[in-house]
Amino acid sequence: MGAYRKKAAEVGGGAAALRDGAPLWRDGAALLHGGDYNPDQWLDRPDILAADIDLMKRAKVNCVSLAIFAWAALEPSEGDYRFDWLEEIIGNLHRNGIFTILATPSGARPAWLARAYPEVLRVGPGLERNLMEGRHNHCYTSPVYREKVWQIDKRLSERFGEHPGVIAWHLSNEYGGECFCPLCQEAFRGWLKEKYGTLTALNAEWWAAFWSHSYSAWEQVEAPSRRGEHNVHGLVLDWKRFVTQKTVEFCAHEKTAVRAGGSTLPVTTNFMSFYEGLNYGKFRNVLDVVSWDSYPEWHRPDMSGARRGALTAFAHDYMRCMHPERAPWLLMESTPSVVNWNGASKLKRPGMHALSSLQAVAHGADSVQYFQWRKGRGGSEKLHGAVVGHDGTADTRVFRDVAEVGQRLAALSAAGLSGSLVRPQAAVIFDQENRWALAEAKGPRNTGTNYPDAVFGHYRALWAQGASADVVDMECPLKDRGYKLIAAPMLYLQRAGIAEKLRAFVEGGGTLVGTYLSGLVNENDLCRLGKTPHGLTDVFGLATEEIDALWDGERNGFAWGGGECEVRELCELVRPTTAETLAAYRADFYAGKPVVLRNRFGKGTAYFIAARPDEAFLAAFYRELMREAGIAAALGGIPGGLPEGVSATLREKDGRAFIFVLNFNETPVTFTLPRPYQDIETGAGLAGQLTLDAYGARVLTEV
Ligand code: GLA
Ligand code: ZN
Repeated sequence: MGAYRKKAAEVGGGAAALRDGAPLWRDGAALLHGGDYNPDQWLDRPDILAADIDLMKRAKVNCVSLAIFAWAALEPSEGDYRFDWLEEIIGNLHRNGIFTILATPSGARPAWLARAYPEVLRVGPGLERNLMEGRHNHCYTSPVYREKVWQIDKRLSERFGEHPGVIAWHLSNEYGGECFCPLCQEAFRGWLKEKYGTLTALNAEWWAAFWSHSYSAWEQVEAPSRRGEHNVHGLVLDWKRFVTQKTVEFCAHEKTAVRAGGSTLPVTTNFMSFYEGLNYGKFRNVLDVVSWDSYPEWHRPDMSGARRGALTAFAHDYMRCMHPERAPWLLMESTPSVVNWNGASKLKRPGMHALSSLQAVAHGADSVQYFQWRKGRGGSEKLHGAVVGHDGTADTRVFRDVAEVGQRLAALSAAGLSGSLVRPQAAVIFDQENRWALAEAKGPRNTGTNYPDAVFGHYRALWAQGASADVVDMECPLKDRGYKLIAAPMLYLQRAGIAEKLRAFVEGGGTLVGTYLSGLVNENDLCRLGKTPHGLTDVFGLATEEIDALWDGERNGFAWGGGECEVRELCELVRPTTAETLAAYRADFYAGKPVVLRNRFGKGTAYFIAARPDEAFLAAFYRELMREAGIAAALGGIPGGLPEGVSATLREKDGRAFIFVLNFNETPVTFTLPRPYQDIETGAGLAGQLTLDAYGARVLTEV
């Protein structure tokens, strides 16, 4: 074991180096390419394990995520650890130039563990304990589960934590879900005691006098359940926070186990972007590297490639901002071809695999990893896409697509891309706790306030114009990041001093966009008394008075830039104090009242959009704001702007810009480049007209 002991410095310096935007691994400049590898399913087939190495080299794979669900092979019975097979695999990969991101196996427990210690299995909201089944079916609170995970994690770290072939830890897999067992219920009450101190304080913050739901003893507090209490919004919110806290704690526990085993390698866990169950922001102080699993539903007939491209970009930018320094992140999973969990498993059309992969890189990923390397023969994922199918050959369209991406990543690595940063001048606020609160609220529109979609509208308007954006939550710093423009739609719930941060931002010269349904409740979902948007009325120069909800299909509108803009869903009526009215409602009893307003505040400007506008308006609006705020587009100056469905995003390193130009249309597009560029991959000079193939992707640098 001591044979490969070495200094932490040799493995890239761990977290500290990552935070400076340094390459993720000690071999320096290479982007990672590979994926989830499950040799534990093939241990009786050495011929297949040998073929894997050969095929990986042909696909230019340099990194695999290993042993994610291998607990039963690593500890077939309690305390009987069998790591030799893993050592052989890791060593063999390494001898062939392939590195390992080693997983801890806590994502799925072996049957013996569930049988010996039933408390490790989850209990559902109906208070019924699950049987042994599936994965991600364990209680994060259970001391037994924590202990068993600790034991195996620590041993894995002792054995492999300094193996020269191992570059990082993949803690568990897609943490998620919740458990309602007695241990969790008790822990929840403990968490609440710590938060509120007294029941009087809890009752007050939860407004528990309503319907006579005040608690007179801590034992009366139960986790929310459809069968029980679920109308106390403070309770529901606190439960979700508690679930996040327990999960973060579990993740930190795994990290500590790995550290206790002696490994200093960076740790990550694979996120699921807009997964509703967790506030990922709370992992910021635990993880060294952010990674996530991206499965965009390309080619769905009900959504254009342009919109899907923008949505996927939104997710990438949100995930990047889960790292405190917005460091390069890892695309930990993506499918090389199809998924198998959707209504229809759509093949990627020619070009889409490279486009989708390079899009992640464009938004700051230093890897393209797949689920999965080789298709298993059984189990529920045997028909899920893989680099190597059941035919076992390289002679497939999927394999060729993957090898092409490997080739392209190698070229980008050679050009020094890895470690480069995305540093936008604009930010869009999307906050998970605000999303939770809006989802619980009864009224003003129970057919949908559509918070994520509304925020996305603002993001997309920037994306379509080649302006990169961070997607931040209320806890992120807004100062000293060079933001010139912040879009903060529907900040219904305020927390983490967001009003003060936005005020300071505008005072200091920033441009802020706020909307209807903002500043209504405190962090525990208690309505604010007094004028709203709470704490920001002077910043926006207005106070809200009433809000009118529209049924699906109902529209109001306003005149803008010589055209008409439609609004839907919610129309807020506001009374300006110092704000000037830029547009007024065209219909209903509030026709003529302000809907778009602008207020000069301090050295900056705050805009307020009182209703949900259409995307054409947002495009025109943000085009103007970008000009006003001096935001440079990645490919600025194209006559007529970027074509529809084409994005341009920027990564930078040592004063050098890498511009990704991506075409999400199923047809080629041609446009005029504003100045000469060089294609980084081919070295070719580009000037004048540039044609992008259908789903084409080019990476340029200015010359
Ligand atoms: C998730 C999981 C993988 C696999 C894929 C299938 O991302 O982490 O183990 O199940 O989905 O798409
Ligand atoms: Zn539990």
